[in-house]
Amino acid sequence: MTDINGKTRVYGLIGSPIEHTMSPLIHNTLAGTLGHNLIYVPFPVSGDGIGAAVRGAFELHISGMNVTVPHKNTIIPFLERTDPRAARIGAVNTLVRGKSGYVGYNTDVEGLYRALRSENIRIEGEDILLFGAGGAARAAAFLCAEKGAASLYILNRSAEKAGILAAEVNRFMKRDFAVGMALADSHKLPHSRFLAFQSTSVGLYPDAGRAVIENPDFYTRIHTGYDIVYRPPDTRFMHLVQNAGGRAYNGLKMLCYQAVIAFELWNDITVPEEEISRIYQNVREACDRYES
Ligand code: ATR
Repeated sequence: MTDINGKTRVYGLIGSPIEHTMSPLIHNTLAGTLGHNLIYVPFPVSGDGIGAAVRGAFELHISGMNVTVPHKNTIIPFLERTDPRAARIGAVNTLVRGKSGYVGYNTDVEGLYRALRSENIRIEGEDILLFGAGGAARAAAFLCAEKGAASLYILNRSAEKAGILAAEVNRFMKRDFAVGMALADSHKLPHSRFLAFQSTSVGLYPDAGRAVIENPDFYTRIHTGYDIVYRPPDTRFMHLVQNAGGRAYNGLKMLCYQAVIAFELWNDITVPEEEISRIYQNVREACDRYES
């Protein structure tokens, strides 16, 4: 723990609810081991308070913030500017102090990319199946577009939302690359083997034990499944992928990397990979304690 003094920089997370956040553990551990005079604290802020919270934080010289549910999108009008990638996704999860306000970034996209790289999962040339069309899905969809996936099928409960996201991705790519579909139409998918991202809230604690598609046969089409959910650490989606012979991962590394990238932005450093592995172990243990 940092010795707090007159030069200690204050960072935090704004969102609601945030009682169970892992972010203070990650940032305060990084600050301690890398020798940065900063602390990171949770700031519970609910819906209507976001504008006042951002202005107040700037006046209080809060050095940077993470942003989570329900503010990732609604915070954008209160920022000095938004990085183009965050603007494209319509979601900001990291604030960096600018001259007259905060600049908004999205480290979820790069966090997912670095998590995939650390597991030797490639996007380039892959046929991708994306479950969900909400905030988390948007980050995965644009990453697949940026990193050269061969195709992208977005499956969502609401086909309309899947179609809207597919159209946005296609506009960005300037070609027909993404297809939006209803989950119920999964039998219409082409006969490829997919890299799949599970980015719905189905299976997320306390809704554990459920998956968007329950039919075990469907999962023979997935060679690798990445669940953005990490609570519980072994999701039903992961089990279904593994039982059908595929590799499966949870979103815990993505969580660690999105935090590390925010820490790098705030401190203008590169966090060594050994340090990230240590953080990952700490977070895993904290999650296990939380589960038991
Ligand atoms: P996040 O920012 O975490 O992605 P979100 O934007 O609320 O959260 O998106 C939640 C996603 O989970 C959506 O894709 C949602 O599907 P709809 O767009 O049809 O609402 C999906 N989802 C939530 N509950 C679901 C359920 N019971 N079955 C299938 N999909 C579900």
